[in-house]
Formats: sequence, structure tokens, C-alpha cells
Amino acid sequence: MFRSLITRTVLPLLLAAGVVAYFGLPYIDRLLTEWFRTDVELRARVLMSSLEESLPALVARSDQQGLRRYTAKVLADQRVLGILICLPQGGTVFKTEFVPTSVSCESAQELSDGQSVVRHAPLGSVLVSVFDQKPAGQTPYRVAILYDLSFVDSRQSTARDYMLAFVGISLVILALFLVLAAWLVVRRWAKILIGDITGRRFFDDAKSGPISLPILRQVRKALSEMEETQRAEIDYRENWTPQALQLVVRDQLHSPQIIVVSNREPYAHEFNETGAIVVQVPASGMVTALEPVMRACSGTWVAHGSGSADREVVDRSDRVRVPPDDPSYTLRRVWLSESEEQGFYYGLSNEGLWPLCHLAYVRPAFRGEDWAVYQSVNRKFAEVVAHEAQSDNPVILIQDFHFAMLPGYLRTRRPKATIVLFWHIPWPNVETFGVCPWKREMLSHMLMADILGFHTLYHCQNFLATLDRFIECQIDHERMTVALQGHICRVAAYPISIEWPPRWLQSMPDVQLSRRTVRERFGIAEHVILALGVERWDFTKGVIERCLALELLLEQNPRLRGQVTLLQIAAPSRSKLAAYKALQRATLTEVERINKLFATADWKPIVLIGKHQPPEQVFELYRAADFCIVNSLHDGMNLVAKEFVAARDDEDGVLILSTFAGAARELVEAILVNPFDVGETAAAIRRAIDMPREQRRQRMQLMRRTIKENNVYRWAGRMLTDAARIRQRQALSIGQESSVS
Ligand code: G6P
Repeated sequence: MFRSLITRTVLPLLLAAGVVAYFGLPYIDRLLTEWFRTDVELRARVLMSSLEESLPALVARSDQQGLRRYTAKVLADQRVLGILICLPQGGTVFKTEFVPTSVSCESAQELSDGQSVVRHAPLGSVLVSVFDQKPAGQTPYRVAILYDLSFVDSRQSTARDYMLAFVGISLVILALFLVLAAWLVVRRWAKILIGDITGRRFFDDAKSGPISLPILRQVRKALSEMEETQRAEIDYRENWTPQALQLVVRDQLHSPQIIVVSNREPYAHEFNETGAIVVQVPASGMVTALEPVMRACSGTWVAHGSGSADREVVDRSDRVRVPPDDPSYTLRRVWLSESEEQGFYYGLSNEGLWPLCHLAYVRPAFRGEDWAVYQSVNRKFAEVVAHEAQSDNPVILIQDFHFAMLPGYLRTRRPKATIVLFWHIPWPNVETFGVCPWKREMLSHMLMADILGFHTLYHCQNFLATLDRFIECQIDHERMTVALQGHICRVAAYPISIEWPPRWLQSMPDVQLSRRTVRERFGIAEHVILALGVERWDFTKGVIERCLALELLLEQNPRLRGQVTLLQIAAPSRSKLAAYKALQRATLTEVERINKLFATADWKPIVLIGKHQPPEQVFELYRAADFCIVNSLHDGMNLVAKEFVAARDDEDGVLILSTFAGAARELVEAILVNPFDVGETAAAIRRAIDMPREQRRQRMQLMRRTIKENNVYRWAGRMLTDAARIRQRQALSIGQESSVS
């Protein structure tokens, strides 16, 4: 700050002083010379008039003795250097002792009566004033009086020195005064600004002081222009790639440590039937989305080690590098005891929060013991994350409803960390969430995150309305921020997505070959239209409703019997829980019943595979299908819909999509259905079967473009850019504090 004050204030002043000295000093010299010369001329005239009385007689007599005596008196005036008395034609009548050789009666000839001239002599300048005397009746003569002007030179240089000293000292005092004044003003403004930022008055005109308001407005304007540009860049960036995401991490976040926290791990090591260790990618939308992001950004992923062989492959710090075929980040496993898993994962997370947030009409169960374990496991994860953090301000990306308490627990352990909590499932309306007995604790701990992300604006609004009802906090609906205990949390919609292009596609055979292979593998005839359903076996996914829709279709359209088969992949999930066991039983019963109704010797309406399929095989299924049905009763986003579209580089295939899945907001070219309306779903299947090739191509093209542009790198990029802005703001207040202290 001082350096800039000096370069901006003091240096220009010194420059101005130089200019003044350069042009001003010669002028002052001239002025002084004129003054002194006029003064000396006047003196010469006065002296001459005093000589007029006695001189004529002495000159007429050419009385050298008398002239010497007389002029000696006159010369007593120190400044009179000498006197010359000349004949009018130029001859010398008398000359005093110290007349310099450069002055003579001959040289004085060129001067007329009363005129003066400055002559330069070895001892300094001399003023020669000439007076013609014509005494009545006597010989005319000329008197040249020589005045010593050397004192003018010395006075001039003294005056110059004084003036320079005066200007110099004044400028230094002025500069010091300016620097001091500027420093005091900047210090005061910075203090007020920091007070406004740290006191959360930054965006509030009413609360900011009148002094800081103008500067605050300018800072805000600059910040919002910067944010707008960044947003516009992101919004119009069509080509989000891992490299683009890496640039965000490097240039905007300045390469912090990135820590992802989730319950489900991206790779599970399992013992197979032969006792060998195999790697499994779990069926989880959250994993599908986050894994490519972590591959791009590196860092550490902290998750529950749930695989049967997980402990065999970790190092002494419970870490293992993944992905196994090309390690690029660290997986830090957290071990949970059976009772922890029961209370935390099965109990509160999946019997409480999961049915609470999904409107699938399964009653949530809330048990005090589960809540206690949920909190203690959240604390356990907080300890592990704090231990994994290599600095005091990493970026921590927490995933999902398993960790509602974690932002609060982490904030106390790592106050400077940038914490993002992304809620992968829907956020219900106020009344629905209101039944949760621990809503206030959860909400207030969630708000300790810097960013709370949801898939849709609708979920954000539900969340804000829930806060409004149950928590004492300040909500800024325009900026979507919430202030609680001096901490500001931004609530925003970030629709999640998948990597583009999906890596599983790289080694895929062409669509025709996939069609044949899949039909062969599942015993489905070549000519049969293949409908595909792929998901975890979960009551939110509408698996039974889908089967009922197919039943209705076959009932209403007998000619379609033998022509269409639903291949349903249902990966068993949370199977210990009663609701999931009941769902599996009910599905099997329904499938059996429907198959009994319509099956022939070589055709079955439904082929149910109740087994987890690895992602590369799922992609093969997508490519083999004629249409894919995603009729979830309620879903945060649903990435199966997006993966199906991404897999169809042949621009064929039809997507049937539930309006209650977040994906329906983006994939508007799908056939949208209300999954609770079996008739509507049956009609949608009929439309999918009948849709002409050109229309299928056009719809698929549009959907592919949407996903290509809104891929998971964009999702992470937007969220991390917002995190970077928050860090910039925090750095702004810290930076200003240190610049004034
Ligand atoms: C949803 C959740 C994820 C979860 C996944 C699979 O997509 O949002 O967090 O991982 O379901 O469920 P599971 O219980 O097997 O992890």
C-alpha cells in the first residue's frame, strides 16, 4: 500500500517540483538582475548629480591631483568600482585606479547620455553608466561611472538556493502530509469494510455505515460483475471436460486438497465364490456421478469400507489407491461395527430419512437409538476427515442424507474449510419433513456448510421453506443464502449428471452386436421389442408399477403379446430391511403372475434379473434396448435415464421418464409419465413402440446434446466455482485485515 502511495503521490509531486525549478529559476534570475540593475542605475544618476558641482572646474583645469582626491571620496562607496572622465571625442581626461581594461573612454563612446551597459570583467560584472556634461562656458566632457555588480551574482545564487530549499521542504511536508492522510483514510475504510464483511452486513445497505456504503457498493459491483462473467462463461461453455474441471480447481480454487465424503464407497473389494478378491462398482447414482469427478480432481475419498475383502487391500492408514486399473486418487476407508451400520445406515438413513424424503408412501421409522448412532457415526467421519486434511482449509464435498450432521461437526474441527453438502435425494415439503423428530438439530448442522446443493430449484425452495418454519435464521430469498450464528450458507440447485462420453462406451461393440448378444444372453428372440428397466431394487423406483403397466398394455393390445419383453435388472439393495424384503417378494409375485398370464413357450413378457450388473454390462443393455423405462415414484435426479441417452450414439431408442424424477426437468424430449397412473404408463409404452424412426432420432439427438453440455464436469465445475467465490470473499476479509494491521 505504501509503495503505491509513494509512487502515486510523492513521485508526481517531486516531478512537479523539478518542472517548476527548471522553468521558474531562470525567470527569477532575470527578475533579480533587472531589480538590482535599475537600483544601481538610479544610484549612478544620484551620484552624477552630486558630482556636477565640483567636477567641471577640476576637468577644465585637468587637475589630476584634485580629481584624484575628489573621486577618492566618491569611491568610498564600496560599490563604485571606478570613474572615467573622457573627452566627448574619446580621449581620457582622468581614470581612477581600478577601472578594468575592458572599460575605456573609447568603448564608452558607443553609449549615449544616461545610457548604461553591463560589462564582464575578471572580478565579476560591471555596470557602466555614461553621462554627458556640458558646463556653461567650459569644455564639455563625459563621465563614466562603473558600479561593481558582482554582488548581484552572489545574491542571485543565494536567492536561488533559498527558493529551491523552500520548494523542496514544502513539497516534502506536503507529501508526508498526503501520505499520512491517505493512510489514515484507507485504514479507516478498510476497517469499516472488514467490519461489514465479517459482520455479515456486506450485502445489506441498511446495516452498512454511511461511510463504507460508497466503497462497499463499488466492491459489491465489482464482485457481482466478476461473478456474472464467470457464470456466463460457465453457462455458455458447451464443452465441459475433465481438463476444464482441472482448470477450475487450479485457477479458481488454487489447487486445494479435495476431500469427498460419502457412505457408499466407489470401489468395493469382495471375496468371490472361489475366495479370490474382485472389485465391484456399486449400484449408486452418487458413485456414478462423483467417481469421474474424483478421477479428474484427485484428492481423498472417505467412505465406509463395506466390501468383504476391503480390509485386505488397504495400507496401515486404511487407504487404498483407486481406480484399481489406473490409480488417481486415494480411497480412505472407515470401518463401522455391525451395530453402527445398523443404527446409522439401515436405521436412521434408510428407514428414517430415505422414506421421509421420497414421496413413495412408505412410512419412515424414527428410533432414538438410531439417531444416537447416526450422530456418533457422523462424528466418527468428522474425526477421520479432519485427520485426512493436510491443511486447515481443504475443500470438503459431503455426499447425501447419511451426513446431515457432518457440516456442523466439521466446522468446529476445521473452521476454515470450505464445506459443501450435496443432497442427492429430493427434499420434501415442510409438512412432510416436519415429522422428523430431530429436524432442528439436522437443519442447524447442515447450515454450517458453505454450500448446500440440491438437484432442482424446487428442492431448494422446499428446503428454505423448511428452515423458515423450524429454524431461527435469516433467509435471503433473492440470493438464496441463509445466515445462522454468523455463518452464511448458500443454497443452490446443481443438477447432477454423468461423465461425457461415458468411459464404459469406449470398448463397446456396435449397437447391432449388442442387440444380438443381449437377446442371446437372456433368451429373448431377435424380433422381440426389448423394454429395459435398470435400477436398485428400491420402492421408490416404481418396478411393480412398471410391470402392471406392461400387463395392462398386453391386456389392451393382444397383438403385442409375443412381441415385447421387459428386461428388468433389479440390483438387490438394503435387503436386510423389511420394506425392501417385502418389495422383492411382491415384485417376484407380480412378475410370476403376469408371466403366467401371457407367457408362451418361447416368449415371456418379463425377464427379471435380481442381480447387480457391472457398469460395462449395463451399458451393453442400454444399447440393446428399444426403449428404457424410468418410472420412479420419486427421484432426486435419476442417472439411469441420462446413461441410457449417453449410451445411444446410434441416436435411436426411446426414453420413458417419470415426471417425479429430477431428470425430467432437463430431458423434456422423453415421453413423460405419471408413474402412479398405470394407464398413462401403458399408453407411454405403446407410444414408444409405435414411434417412427425419425422422431426417435430427433428426440434422442436433442437429449444427447443436453447431457453432453450438462455433464458431470459442469455440475462439479459450477459447484467448485461457487466454492472458489466463497473462498475469495473469505480471503478478501483476511487479506484486508493483514494489510491494515
Ligand atoms: C441413492 C443415494 C446414494 C446411494 C445410492 C445407493 O442414489 O443417493 O447415496 O449410494 O442410492 O444406495 P446404497 O444404500 O446402496 O448406498
